[in-house]
Amino acid sequence: MHSVLIIGCGSIGERHLRCFQKTGRCSVTACDTNPALLADMKDRYAAPGFATLDEALASGGFSAAVICTPAHLHLPMALKLLDAGLHLLIEKPLALDTTLVPQVREAIARADRFVGVAYVYHCMPWMVGAREFLKSGELGRVLHASVVCGQHFPTFRPAYRDIYYARHEHGGGAIQDALTHIANAVEWLIGPSSRVFCDASHQMLEGVTVEDTVNVCARHDGALVSYAMTQFQAPNEVLFQFHGERGSLKVEVHNRRWGVMHHGADGWTWHETPPLERDDLFITQAQAFLDGIEGLPSLLSTFDEGVQTLKFNHAALHSVHVGMPITIE
Ligand SMILES: NC(=O)c1ccc[n+]([C@@H]2O[C@H](COP(=O)([O-])OP(=O)(O)OC[C@H]3O[C@@H](n4cnc5c(N)ncnc54)[C@H](O)[C@@H]3O)[C@@H](O)[C@H]2O)c1
Repeated sequence: MHSVLIIGCGSIGERHLRCFQKTGRCSVTACDTNPALLADMKDRYAAPGFATLDEALASGGFSAAVICTPAHLHLPMALKLLDAGLHLLIEKPLALDTTLVPQVREAIARADRFVGVAYVYHCMPWMVGAREFLKSGELGRVLHASVVCGQHFPTFRPAYRDIYYARHEHGGGAIQDALTHIANAVEWLIGPSSRVFCDASHQMLEGVTVEDTVNVCARHDGALVSYAMTQFQAPNEVLFQFHGERGSLKVEVHNRRWGVMHHGADGWTWHETPPLERDDLFITQAQAFLDGIEGLPSLLSTFDEGVQTLKFNHAALHSVHVGMPITIE
């Protein structure tokens, strides 16, 4: 039985805590500096708790941790946890910049632990199906892709003004918070980004000044890719299109389906997934993490894939700042 420490029990930490419990493969302990939240985790999930990471580590006995604090804390915490010999699932984005990446990479190698990044699109059956199809080569090389996506953030994250989202230096804004999922998914499907030209601005969301609207023109491994995202639009939708040498592939995340159209065909052939509970994807993610710890194949984003997407985030923010395209080494 694994023993998993959930660090940060806010919006996503509570979900991880509940979903790891639902795997039936581990015991779960909470850690949060907010005493009211800790008490809540105890009342609602019978989860024991610690007010600080140091206290939790001093108590010993954990085999793994899920880092669910704001992004500027992810890698400093990862170093401490790897030194203590724990396997890690780290929330997105991996960090704000790559400063600590070499040190963490060394610590992972030294500790010989499994580390995944919680880009949950890797656990969506429609993304997995689309990826397998693209990798089969049936459409040839992907030459162009586009993503149109967004949601009404005040509806889905009403606390946005009061959390990390309000500050870039805590991992906030649309690029680091939301677009990063999409960029990681595109990288997972067709390859890493190598050039990013980004325009972004605060258009609408009340109470914050960070960007809520983003357009990106990027290159991924020879494909031209455009991204458009808003966080004030009414529909909660994500639409990917990939155009290859012999046809196209479309993913409608909001409809849980992916489809293919070959050149000359007159319609899409769809592959649908029956309705899921929102927790289901996170239970799949928890299972994938525990599989990785046990040395089984795992769907999760690797640490290196998380680093690559961190470079995308950084390049996008830098591009907005200087008004120029940025090349990713
Ligand atoms: N994968 C997803 O779908 C998804 C969804 C939401 C958030 N996230 C990511 O997860 C992270 C957390 O987001 P959230 O929405 O849960 O934020 P949140 O503000 O709701 O929760 C963060 C929690 O961390 C706690 N915390 C802060 N510093 C701490 C410390 N030093 N020790 C222990 N606890 C500490 C806070 O008290 C708070 O309860 C962010 O990086 C965010 O981008 C991912």
